[in-house]
Amino acid sequence: MNVNPATAPRVITVDGPAGSGKGTLARRLARHLGYAHLDTGKLYRAVGLGTLRSGGDPAAPADAVTAAKALDPGAIAGGSLEDPELTGDRAASAASKVAAIPEVREVLLSFQRDFAANPPGDAAGAVLDGRDTGTVVCPDAGAKFYVTARVEERADRRHKELLGRGETSIYARVLADMKERDVRDSTRAVAPLKPADDARTIDTSDLDADAVFAVALEHIASLS
Ligand code: DC
Repeated sequence: MNVNPATAPRVITVDGPAGSGKGTLARRLARHLGYAHLDTGKLYRAVGLGTLRSGGDPAAPADAVTAAKALDPGAIAGGSLEDPELTGDRAASAASKVAAIPEVREVLLSFQRDFAANPPGDAAGAVLDGRDTGTVVCPDAGAKFYVTARVEERADRRHKELLGRGETSIYARVLADMKERDVRDSTRAVAPLKPADDARTIDTSDLDADAVFAVALEHIASLS
């Protein structure tokens, strides 16, 4: 499937719940198109972990906002989001708490919009993935995806990923955590997880990564 680089959308958003495969799709699209990629969940994870590291409570707005303001765009551009602790469950749980605080979202909004408008490394475009990149961060994005899958399937993927890393994991607990996080992400008052009206939804429950990529590319080609 050919995408015309001259007319391809410059900003692509990929939203969806944990374990849906949105990150895999976003990274692959960015690589294919030569675009910069921003995993916006990592920003919330960095704020959550930053709050914990400074002895604060991720559910306390004052503590979380202080950590959000302390994020350094220069350090982020330099790779601070590659910190392996950010992928852990401690960071995930703290992230979903700070993400419910409107002032934290406000602080992160300008960083994300700036990334989309001026992608680093002189890239011709940007792919952002998260929960609200198509609804709130970049409502004018040229292509939007909402990637989802059955919660049991998403929990199974996460469980296997943890086991693959040599960590202990109990499927029932992973499933319960995921359900809890889904509820928190989709029922919060500000920027809840939901598809943008103009997003193309892809259910990845029964698709592998190659098939998901092909569906997405076909959609982008149809827009370019
Ligand atoms: O995608 P993730 O698991 O890394 O996201 C971590 C948390 O951050 C998740 O609970 C939802 C939140 N988040 C958000 O509220 N908005 C985004 N754009 C990205 C993530």
